[in-house]
Order: sequence, then structure tokens, then C-alpha cells
Amino acid sequence: MRKAKIAVFVSGGGTNLQALIDAEKNGVIKSGEISLVVSSNQNAYALTRAKNADIKSVTVVKKELGSQKAFEDKIIENLNENQIDIIVLAGFMTILSAEFTKKYDKKIINVHPSLIPSFCGDGYYGLRVHEGALKKGVKVTGATVHFVNEITDGGEIIMQKAVAVKDGDTPEKLQKRVMRQAEWKILPLSVEKVCNKIITE
Ligand code: GAR
Repeated sequence: MRKAKIAVFVSGGGTNLQALIDAEKNGVIKSGEISLVVSSNQNAYALTRAKNADIKSVTVVKKELGSQKAFEDKIIENLNENQIDIIVLAGFMTILSAEFTKKYDKKIINVHPSLIPSFCGDGYYGLRVHEGALKKGVKVTGATVHFVNEITDGGEIIMQKAVAVKDGDTPEKLQKRVMRQAEWKILPLSVEKVCNKIITE
């Protein structure tokens, strides 16, 4: 059976990329293969993780390309060259246009570090999400994997996992717990689910 070709989009540390690399190695992801890493930041540690795993990577910086269109055209060129079937946003911090998300309808998935619809949408990314959860005083948070459409964090939900908030949590402590207990588990499982659907369609 063929495998779906996965592109993982990153901007930072890349711990979710690492979870995907490990999941492919240990067989949790068996219907897809990570074929390309696209980074919006040339200093992202995620690029080192890609290199260590022998995965091809490309850096595409919006500022250098001058416009959203030029940025996305460059990405599309790389996706086409590598015959990518599915895009995984794993800590990718640049917004993609409605034209882009429409072109890849039900082919882009994102991991978000809260239980959507809480603490999501414009302005909620990275540590800010956990700051929001602590400020509100919620006792349970978690992570969500969802399809990406033109509404920020608004696409169909694929998987969610709840994580307890504890007394004395800082945004950093909570972020680590949400990653370890939820993101690094449900992202690989969701990727396998979507890849399996693509190759059996
Ligand atoms: C992760 O917590 C991810 O859920 C979040 O950024 C972090 C990236 O970490 N994404 C968002 O907030 C998207 N709205 P990583 O680079 O170590 O995977």
C-alpha cells in the first residue's frame, strides 16, 4: 500500500515534529511518511530535528518574499515538487490565507494547545493560550487537533484530550504538561487517521 506524503510546517522548537518523527519510527504512523519540513523561521530548532532524521527541509520567510501571495506560491511550489498529500501545522506561526486553505480543503491539520472553542482564535498561540487558561482559572485544559479552514482554529475537530490544571502552575509548566500528556499523543494519532483515509479513498 502506498503511503501518504506528509509535509510538516514549523516555526520554533519542533517538539511536535519530533513526536511525529518518533511515531513514524515506532509504527504509530504507518499510513504516511514525513517527506518535507517547511519552516517559516531559519533559526527554528525544528530544522535541526529534521536534519537529524534525514528529512528534507525548506525555509520560506514571508518578510523576505515581500507578500503573502509570494510566500504561499513558494510553499505551493515546494509541496508540488514533493507530491505532498497532507500538511501538518505543528507550531507554525504564520497565518495562511483563505485561498491557501481552500486549495487544500481537509488536507491541512493543526494542533492547538487548548480545548477548542476555549482560548483559541486570533491572538491565541503558544504560551498566550496557557496564560489565558490560567487567567480564567479553568481547572481543565488540553489540546485539540483539527482541520484548518479560513477561520482561525475554526475547522472540524479531529481529536481532543483533556489535561488537568494544577495549583501553582505557570504558563510554562502548563504548556509542558499539555504537550506531554496531550499534543504529542493526539497529533500522531490524528495524522495516522487522516493519512489512512487518504490512501484508502
Ligand atoms: C505547541 O504547543 C502548539 O500546540 C502551539 O505552539 C507550540 C509549538 O511547539 N501552536 C499554536 O499555538 C497554534 N495556534 P513545538 O514547536 O515544540 O511543536
